[in-house]
Amino acid sequence: MRILISHFVNMPQEYKLVLKYADQPGYTPDIECYLRHGGYEPLKKALAMQPKTSPDGKTQSPQEQIRQEVMTSGLRGRGGAGFSCGLKWSFVDRKSGKPIYLICNADESEPGTFKDRQIIYKDPHQLIEGMIISCFANDAHLAYIYIRGEMPDGAKLLNKALAETRTKNFLGKNVLGSGYNLEIYVHRGAGAYICGEETGLIESLEGKRPYPRIKPPYFPAVLGLWMCPTIVNNVETLCNVKHIVAMGGAEFAKLGTPNNTGTRIVSLSGHVKRPGYYEIETGKVTIGQLINDPAFGGGLRDGRKLKAVIPGGSSAKVFKAGEKFKLKRKSPDGQLVEQEVDMLDLPYDFDSLIAAGSMSGSSAIIVMDDSTDIVEALANIAEFYAHESCGQCTPCREGSLWMSKALHRLTHGEGRASDADYLVKIADNIPGGRTICAFGEACSWPVQSFVAKFKDEFIAKGATDEARHAKENPAPPERHELATTH
Ligand SMILES: Cc1cc2nc3c(=O)[nH]c(=O)nc-3n(C[C@H](O)[C@H](O)[C@H](O)COP(=O)(O)O)c2cc1C
Ligand code: SF4
Repeated sequence: MRILISHFVNMPQEYKLVLKYADQPGYTPDIECYLRHGGYEPLKKALAMQPKTSPDGKTQSPQEQIRQEVMTSGLRGRGGAGFSCGLKWSFVDRKSGKPIYLICNADESEPGTFKDRQIIYKDPHQLIEGMIISCFANDAHLAYIYIRGEMPDGAKLLNKALAETRTKNFLGKNVLGSGYNLEIYVHRGAGAYICGEETGLIESLEGKRPYPRIKPPYFPAVLGLWMCPTIVNNVETLCNVKHIVAMGGAEFAKLGTPNNTGTRIVSLSGHVKRPGYYEIETGKVTIGQLINDPAFGGGLRDGRKLKAVIPGGSSAKVFKAGEKFKLKRKSPDGQLVEQEVDMLDLPYDFDSLIAAGSMSGSSAIIVMDDSTDIVEALANIAEFYAHESCGQCTPCREGSLWMSKALHRLTHGEGRASDADYLVKIADNIPGGRTICAFGEACSWPVQSFVAKFKDEFIAKGATDEARHAKENPAPPERHELATTH
């Protein structure tokens, strides 16, 4: 009995904040259903806020108070980099005299990622409410939802939801009599991964090719859409703003773990019994629990062993089963001590994964069991990146293609034992400030990590091909041999 209780106490569970209603039976994406579930109450709360004077005599406007709450909440961006949302908002140039824009990044193109679309398809008003509050807090009067081209139904749903919002005056002129005006439009992408990169997205929204802009000077918070201050946030990030206003930043910060607050929606795919999306308190569930626990992945397919895990979308560095990491953790007396942690025991949060040399990225875990041909898996990823490079930077344009070609020959019987080193040489020469955007890193990290951790498999494949070629095509006899046979 005691064993059962202690097992229950430690049982990892889903924690539904953003996805609280989305999958409930009978929950529909229309505004009436959203209103019945308390929808738009946080917006009303935000619009009703009054200026607040602190004991030092400083007065904070309602907008400043919301921005402060977001800072207090510790919310980090859910789009990939995990950058502080409050800090990003604090960089917005509010003195330029130009309009401030907000863009919701709904491109969701990172392979393995399928979380934002759950919100868009099942609970679009949650996103819209998060956006309206975020726009109000940042004095933005025009916002866009940039949605991936391959999600036409998502665009339709959002447009319908926006129309409903206008009829209730949550959007448009003089929102709920507050004097605040806002319009939000949906813009469909045309199906390029690079449109998810915020400055490529902005170029695309302006009607141009999605060529990412160089930073500096083109930090969106200063020089974004139409060269005006612009906030770009992910779908899930913006939804969280609604919850921060509803519960307060300090309460939100109690969810998750220090510096990794709130919840995260994890897309779990690959060789698990129960692939799907799972919302967890950030850092309160380990990678191993996400893969094996019956509440989540439910374990590997029968009779299979774990081989590798990509922890944060295809661009994150791969983990090998059995890998150990040295992490600094707080002991019960508050001291920082170094501990050896197995890959499966890594808490699923931003900081632990970075400390282990990878990242949680777009929170997409791809599980590979021992049936996986690791060279094939990397070839698949590399082909994607070679196809999606925008081509502006030579190291990325050429390097991604060369890597893909080398992997293609390795997976088509034309490999060489030296291909492993060749791949790493190319991958090492793409990132590190040589490219305009982080795609350079995104295409190199898989190659660097797959080859470093599974080098034997790459060499073995290349060597087998070389040996077979040598047998099938024996070297021609040398010249003097020809002479003596005559
Ligand atoms: C190549 C590339 C693709 C990206 N794709 C996406 C994407 O599909 N969705 C997304 O939210 N962020 C994506 N990002 C990150 C965005 O540039 C940006 O950091 C993010 O939208 C900011 O939102 P957040 O702070 O709320 O995370 C991508 C970045 C790169 C470099
Ligand atoms: S790094 Fe690649 S994707 Fe990014 S701007 Fe350069 S060529 Fe384009």
